[in-house]
Amino acid sequence: MLLKPNENVLPLEGSPAARGIGHTGRHIGAILMDEGKLTASDAEQVLARQRELGWRFGEAAIELNLITDADLRQALAKQYEFPYLVSGPDGVAKELIAAWDPFHPVVEELRGVRTQLLIRWYNPEAGRRTLVVASASAREGRSFVAANLAVVFSQLGHRTLLMDADFRAPRQQSIFNIPDRFGLSSALSGRADLSAAAPVTGLTGLAVMPAGPTPPNPLELLSRGSFAALLGRAQAEYDVIIVDTPPVNEYADAHTIAYRAGDALLVSRKDRTRLEDTERAVRELSDATARIVGTLVNAY
Ligand SMILES: Nc1ncnc2c1ncn2[C@@H]1O[C@H](COP(=O)(O)OP(=O)(O)OP(=O)(O)O)[C@@H](O)[C@H]1O
Ligand SMILES: [Mg+2]
Repeated sequence: MLLKPNENVLPLEGSPAARGIGHTGRHIGAILMDEGKLTASDAEQVLARQRELGWRFGEAAIELNLITDADLRQALAKQYEFPYLVSGPDGVAKELIAAWDPFHPVVEELRGVRTQLLIRWYNPEAGRRTLVVASASAREGRSFVAANLAVVFSQLGHRTLLMDADFRAPRQQSIFNIPDRFGLSSALSGRADLSAAAPVTGLTGLAVMPAGPTPPNPLELLSRGSFAALLGRAQAEYDVIIVDTPPVNEYADAHTIAYRAGDALLVSRKDRTRLEDTERAVRELSDATARIVGTLVNAY
C-alpha cells in the first residue's frame, strides 16, 4: 500500500511511517514473565542466549522454543500500548490487521498514512475531522482501508467513529463481527441515533456504526438533512470520523456523503484501477465540493 506522491496527494513510500508509537519502557522479558509465558529461570536462559547471539530478547526466546511468535507479538503490543485483539470465530476478521497484528508491514504503512493525514489534513478546530474513504470502482480496498485506518487512529488515543455508509455492499459489520440490526440506515430513518454506533470491545476509543438494514432508497436517505445532522452530532462526540462508501463511478452515494463530510481520501488499486477512472472520480468528488486530501494506492 502506498500513497502516490503528486501535488494533490500524500506521499507515503519512504515516509517516516509509524514514528509516533509510544513505548511503555517495560522490558519485554518482564511483560512475558507477568503474562506467565516465561519463568524466571527461562528468562535467565534467554538472557544468556541473547548475550551469546547478540539478538533481541524476544528473538532469543523464540529460538529457544520458550515462546511463540504470537506470544512475542502480543507482548510487543503491550510494550507499545497497542490495544490488541484476538481474531477468531468470535473475534474480528483477519483483515482487521491493525487490531490483531500491529507490527505487520501493512500496518506500519497505515500508520504512515495516519501520520500524513495528521500533518496534512486533520484540523478539528477548522472542522476537518471527517474523512470519506472513496474509490472509483468496486473491490479496490475501501472497506479494508477505512476499517484499519480507524483502528490506527483510535490507537493514538483519538475517539474514533467508523461509519459504514456503503448501503450497496456493507461490510464493516462482518469485519468487526458486530450485529447490524441497527446502524446508519436506522439512524437516518429516525429509528436510532448515534447510539447505533457500538464500541469495539478491546479497542479503546473506537466505535463502529454499521450500515444497518439495507434501505430501498440509499441515495435518498443519504441526501436527507438527517445525515448532515447525524454527522454534526458525531463531530461533537468524536475526534475522528472515517466513512466507508460505495464506488464513486457506480453510484452517486459517495458524492453526497463527501459533500456533507468535506474531505475524501481516494483509494485506487495498484495495477487495477485505470487512470481515467481515478480522474473521473476526482472530477466528480471535486464537483461535489469535496476536498481530496490524498490518493492512496492500495497494493495487494
Ligand atoms: N492492502 C490490502 N492488503 C490485504 N488485503 C486487502 C488489502 N486491501 C484490500 N484487501 C482485501 O481485498 C478484498 C476487497 O477489499 P474491500 O472489501 O476493502 O474493497 P472495497 O473497495 O471496499 O470493495 P466493495 O466495492 O465490495 O465495497 C477484501 O477481502 C480485503 O480484505
Ligand atoms: Mg467496501
